[in-house]
Amino acid sequence: MNKEIMGNFTQKYNYTITPEKLKVVTLSQRPDLRDKAQYLIELTHPKFMRNYTVNNPLWVSLLEQFSDFQFVICSFDDDLLSVINTIPLQFDQSNICMEKGWDGALMTGISKKDTKSSNSLCALSISIGPASQGHGLGRTAVRLSRAIARDKGFDRLVLPLRPILKSKYPLIAFEKYISWKEADGSPFDPWLRVHTKLDGLPLGIADDSITIHGSIQDWEMWTGMRFPETGSYIIPEAMIPIRVDREQNAGIYIEPNLWVQHIVSIQDKFNF
Ligand SMILES: CC(C)(COP(=O)(O)OP(=O)(O)OC[C@H]1O[C@@H](n2cnc3c(N)ncnc32)[C@H](O)[C@@H]1OP(=O)(O)O)[C@@H](O)C(=O)NCCC(=O)NCCS
Repeated sequence: MNKEIMGNFTQKYNYTITPEKLKVVTLSQRPDLRDKAQYLIELTHPKFMRNYTVNNPLWVSLLEQFSDFQFVICSFDDDLLSVINTIPLQFDQSNICMEKGWDGALMTGISKKDTKSSNSLCALSISIGPASQGHGLGRTAVRLSRAIARDKGFDRLVLPLRPILKSKYPLIAFEKYISWKEADGSPFDPWLRVHTKLDGLPLGIADDSITIHGSIQDWEMWTGMRFPETGSYIIPEAMIPIRVDREQNAGIYIEPNLWVQHIVSIQDKFNF
């Protein structure tokens, strides 16, 4: 993608990002922002995940059929700062979504054309542009997601959470990692901490949340590594090792996520 056209998401902002300086629009209102939004998502996720969204027909359906549920946060100068991808979902703790996490939520959500039977809004992805990270916009985006859920008539927001620092500890079991605490008792992982501080409730682990298959050539291209033998490999930005099978010319990554639920209240409104 042409970076000049897409804008420079790495240029640092020299002002504080506060909610009153933001505007929120959907991709159905601003279809011209679709490619830019997609580019921001690609930039903020590991390279091995990029194909997973760009070339995933379900993801393309999400952007096309559910453009009313894809939100971009812009500055008033129209700089794109953040993207929130959501889908209405019939979610309960016994259905496929609980176990199949992100993949299950996308598949189930897309297959339900009639959103009236949905009981939750699911945030599939919250992405903050590199230049805007660390300014509190992540927290703002979670609050906005709740306001969006309320605005769309849902009383809860659910999400298969990807703990952002887990990839630095790929050998630690996911369950153990999410139980790590800071001295004040809050979660060690900053993204999980953001959610729990906003009263998000962890519901359980989706063990097979995101599954990515690729040939050995694919994985070499995505990681810049070589995989000379069958076995498990730690790769950059992955939460757990990938499994490579030379005979099958295949590599597989199966990422666990943590389901988190936010009950939406009357206080969840846009102009907070
Ligand atoms: C995760 C993400 C949404 C957080 O957004 P953000 O705007 O940087 O977060 P905030 O400024 O609101 O900071 C929230 C907390 O995270 C911490 N934090 C943010 N990025 C961090 C990083 N890379 N390393 C360590 N801590 C980080 C902040 O210090 C803050 O901690 P605090 O609770 O102690 O104050 C953003 O980093 C992002 O888009 N990442 C890539 C996409 C992604 O993984 N999304 C989440 C899963 S869908």
